Amino acid sequence: MADNATVLSIENVHFGYKQAGVMVPILSGASFAVAAGECAALQGASGTGKSTALALAGLLVSPQQGRIVLDGEDTTAWSENTRATWRRDKLGFIFQQHHLLDDFTVRENCALPLLWQGKDAAPVDALLDSMGLSGRANAYPPQLSGGEQQRAAIARALIHRPRLLLADEPTGNLDPENAAIVLKLLLDAARKQGCAVLLVTHDPQIAAAADKRFVMSERSVILK
Ligand SMILES: Nc1ncnc2c1ncn2[C@@H]1O[C@H](COP(=O)(O)OP(=O)(O)OP(=O)(O)O)[C@@H](O)[C@H]1O
Ligand SMILES: [Mg+2]
Repeated sequence: MADNATVLSIENVHFGYKQAGVMVPILSGASFAVAAGECAALQGASGTGKSTALALAGLLVSPQQGRIVLDGEDTTAWSENTRATWRRDKLGFIFQQHHLLDDFTVRENCALPLLWQGKDAAPVDALLDSMGLSGRANAYPPQLSGGEQQRAAIARALIHRPRLLLADEPTGNLDPENAAIVLKLLLDAARKQGCAVLLVTHDPQIAAAADKRFVMSERSVILK
């Protein structure tokens, strides 16, 4: 697929959670898109549905109305199996808390996405090196600093060269210096690797560094 092709397109999506038998709307007609090579920021107050939007984009939940289109394909009718395969092969996900597996080394954590695809883990060391983590490859996540943990989580999310990288407040627990490092790695994923990056952040400075900025508003998403 050529660069600047739309990777993620959320089209008039309606989504709510059922609570005590009543549907509580979270998104009511949200539309936005992210292209290959582009880093988009998603901002909004707590509880407005940013993590929900990432869960929809990552095919973890399905909209009640509207479409999620990935690389030009409407995912509406995809089976759970097809959705899981897309996630395994095309998606990288980064969380506010790193969610690395404590019983595996940094190298093993980063190798997992390749092993799930039946691929060789050889590229892991070069990626860890490029992220300044070569000296920590044999360490276990609890032995790392917060910044190192988040860089290892980014390496794990990028090792299989995903089409789409979703990041939910990846700098939320970091000091400004480490937040800047993480931001640069995410921008590089878009610039150098051609990933479509969707980055949830509360931080206006981080959002300003993105190529475009979406804001959750009135249960929808507007381009700012
Ligand atoms: N599994 C669930 N069941 C019911 N309601 C939920 C569920 N998950 C989230 N919600 C509700 O949906 C709304 C949106 O939640 P979401 O986590 O997407 O917000 P957010 O914008 O990511 O907030 P934050 O900035 O605090 O992370 C909230 O009102 C939340 O309480
Ligand atoms: Mg959230």
